[in-house]
This record gives sequence, structure tokens and C-alpha cells, in this order.
Amino acid sequence: MIRDRKGGVPIVCLTAYTYPVARLLDDHVDLLLVGDSVAMVLHGHQTTLGASVEMMIAHGQAVMRGSAKACVVVDMPAGSYEDSATQAVASARRIVGETGCQAVKLEGGVGMAAQIAAIVAEGIPVMGHIGLLPQSVEADGGYRIKGRTEENAAALFRDAAAVEKAGAFSVVIEGTIEAVAADLTRNISIPTIGIGASGDCDGQILVIDDMVGLTVDRVPRFVKEYAKLRDVISQAASTYAAEVRSRAFPGPDHVFSATTGKERT
Ligand code: KIV
Repeated sequence: MIRDRKGGVPIVCLTAYTYPVARLLDDHVDLLLVGDSVAMVLHGHQTTLGASVEMMIAHGQAVMRGSAKACVVVDMPAGSYEDSATQAVASARRIVGETGCQAVKLEGGVGMAAQIAAIVAEGIPVMGHIGLLPQSVEADGGYRIKGRTEENAAALFRDAAAVEKAGAFSVVIEGTIEAVAADLTRNISIPTIGIGASGDCDGQILVIDDMVGLTVDRVPRFVKEYAKLRDVISQAASTYAAEVRSRAFPGPDHVFSATTGKERT
């Protein structure tokens, strides 16, 4: 259980949006997040506000088909929970009911505590998300790192405490200065999962496309690219194009003759 991993071996988390990627990641991670970042990463929207409940359910179902052991968490998109606890419970029930995922995640601290408590009371585990909140970047005037002032750090402590008290099993801390994220981790009893936060968090998460070097637009500074799939795909497409144009592809291994009988079609 993720909740019991506080202070232990760091919890490994990545986002996943598709069946094949879930299959590839499942053996290596503790938690797969079907993040609403899918709206930007796979659908080309400018912000996560492009995500809908239907979009999250479709990707959640795909990831669930590809995952056998990781804890799968599906993000609640903007507009599906903020209005009231009743709205939040209805959306969470629908997401869990239609995907079979283990938990949902929603953004916000003190202001979303009632929603978290109501969903947890329904028996649905909730992951919190505090610090930089991507669903609020337009209202916030951009991607602004949190915890830089004493006042803002104090607000983050209140948010973390509220999410913990409301019954969340863990909380993502995003885009928060390192010392504050580390202090937050020491001050709450549930695991913190950092992204652009601190190595002292109880776990880390990255967006899969950023981590494997597939992101074609802006890559945030906190990302470490463990591969450069952009270059691999671009090189493969360039070689394929040249071989099609020169008729080097398809070769003898890629066509069927009348004399061989058992090729895979
Ligand atoms: O949507 C997402 O990918 C997220 C992570 C950045 C934590 O919320």
C-alpha cells in the first residue's frame, strides 16, 4: 500500500496514458498516474483544462488494460469536482466505475478538503495535489514556483494538513522550492510525491513523455530525460521515407511469395 510507504524506499511513479506504455512501465513503477496532462501531451492542448471526464475515462481504461500490478490513479479533470462535494463524488464514482482504477487525484488543499473527505467517505481512495496546480495556471498568470514567500509557504502547510486530515492516502507536491517541499514531507504523515519539488519527498513522479525525451514542445527544467525518443523516432521516419522512395522497402522479408506457406499475416 502506498500509504504505508512513508519514509521508506522512495515510491516510483510515472504518468501513463496508453495501453502499450502501461505494459512497458508496469513492472518498474509503484504507481501509474493517468494525468490530465494527457490533454497537453497526447492531444496537443495548451493547458490541462482541455481534459474532460470522458477523455480521462478512455485513457484510464487503456492504462488499466495494460497494468497488472501498479496502483493506477486517474486524475479528475478541471470542472468535474470544484463546485461541490456532491459533484466530486459523482465524478469520482463515474471514473472509478468505468475504469476500475484504484484511486483518483484532484488538485487543491484547504479549498478542496470537503471534496476529498466526501470521496474518501464513499470508499474511493484520493491522492491530493498541492503547490503549483496546472489546472489553475491561467488564473495564476502562468507556471509559478510555490513556497518562495513565508506567506505562501504557510499556505502550503495549511493545504498539506487539510489534504491529510481529509483522508488522502498521499499527496503530489508540484513546482515548490526544495526546502519547503522537504519541510512539508517531514510535517505530514502521508507520503509526498514530488515533481519539481525535493529529493526528500517520499516518492517522485514525472510525465512519461518528458522522461523518455518524446516531448516536442517545452520541457520543464526539473525534468531529467533518460532517453531521447524524439531523435529515435525522427531518425526511423527519415530512414523509412528514404527506403520507400528508393524502393529499398519492402524487401524480400516483408512480402509474401506463393511458395512459403506459414508466414504471419
Ligand atoms: O497530470 C499530471 O501529469 C500530473 C502530474 C504532473 C503530477 O498531475
